[in-house]
Amino acid sequence: MITADNGEPLHVLDLPQLYMKPSSQDLLKVLEILTVQPKTFGSVARDVVKPSFQSAEVSRYLTSIISSSLAWFDSDELREVVWDAAAARLSERAGRTAMPALSRVFNIPTSSGEEFALTLHEPSLTADNLGMKTWVSSYLLSRRLHSLFDSVPELVLSDHTSNNTVMEKPSIRALELGSGTGLVGLSFAILGGAAASIYLTDLPAIVPNLAHNVTLNSDILLKSNAEVNTGVLDWSVVPQPAPTKEERYTVILAADPLYSPDHPKWLVQTVETWLSRGLDARVVVELPLRDAYLPQVREFRQRMEDIGLAIVEEGKESGYDDWEGADGGSVEVHCWWSVWGWSEQL
Ligand SMILES: C[S@@+](CC[C@H](N)C(=O)[O-])C[C@H]1O[C@@H](n2cnc3c(N)ncnc32)[C@H](O)[C@@H]1O
Repeated sequence: MITADNGEPLHVLDLPQLYMKPSSQDLLKVLEILTVQPKTFGSVARDVVKPSFQSAEVSRYLTSIISSSLAWFDSDELREVVWDAAAARLSERAGRTAMPALSRVFNIPTSSGEEFALTLHEPSLTADNLGMKTWVSSYLLSRRLHSLFDSVPELVLSDHTSNNTVMEKPSIRALELGSGTGLVGLSFAILGGAAASIYLTDLPAIVPNLAHNVTLNSDILLKSNAEVNTGVLDWSVVPQPAPTKEERYTVILAADPLYSPDHPKWLVQTVETWLSRGLDARVVVELPLRDAYLPQVREFRQRMEDIGLAIVEEGKESGYDDWEGADGGSVEVHCWWSVWGWSEQL
């Protein structure tokens, strides 16, 4: 008795009660239904619709399973499986920071209106490793990347979905700063296909999962003839000697990179170090406009202008992060996206 036709939340008393000694199959079936789906920042229509339960009661129900001896089961193995599933459901309800490792699928549009899917692994979070999760501004930026390919003439590249021109050597060298789980950089690689190469970078603790996510998506990357590499690039370190003209990048991408007072300075000095000086050079950034970090956003803008960059295109948009608000719903995040080029070249 676990479905409601009228869409009303079900009560835990509709679930198999332990005093009735339910079978392990019945309990596992219910525990599967109680799985909390990881959010993908996408439209609600794409999410799997499952019966909803009154949530406060569910945690109590799960705890009762974990603390039960399940003495009527035939084997310790079955008990372990049920306890593990109940513990997993409980931690999924404890908020994103307490959630176990998870994988999410993100759907990214191409300019032809089709979409491709990227699967990203996110290890369980620790407070100081923000790059272990995918942030909403990277989702918004990935979804608008195809329009960048359309609007910047130098970026009109082969479209992997229509088997257009396949170039022998990548003509666009791109760099992503603070890639995290890699959503923006991987989207860029697939949209760029054989005509682009991208280097996804982050701090040492983040790069192993980033590299893992490249491997997870190797089929679609291979199909797109995309060239993707990963490595460490710490914005606080100024490379000596400075990169040569050939080592610089035509496109630099960054999503949600500002959350400490040092970040605007470090990020802009990294842009200045690595951005090529040509007419086609572009920096593409998407920043969430969180109140606490607005001074960093202003400082970033000023520092970009101070080194001679100017905005080519900009806009605002909103998305929903997967942190829960006080009411248990998703939190709306307002973001600012901007595309920059050298001002004397505009
Ligand atoms: C809020 S996360 C955003 C991750 C990803 N771009 C996204 O939007 O999902 C910020 C990222 O910047 C990286 N980061 C912070 N300081 C850095 C530094 N000094 N050098 C390189 N990366 C840094 C973090 O490790 C993290 O991956």
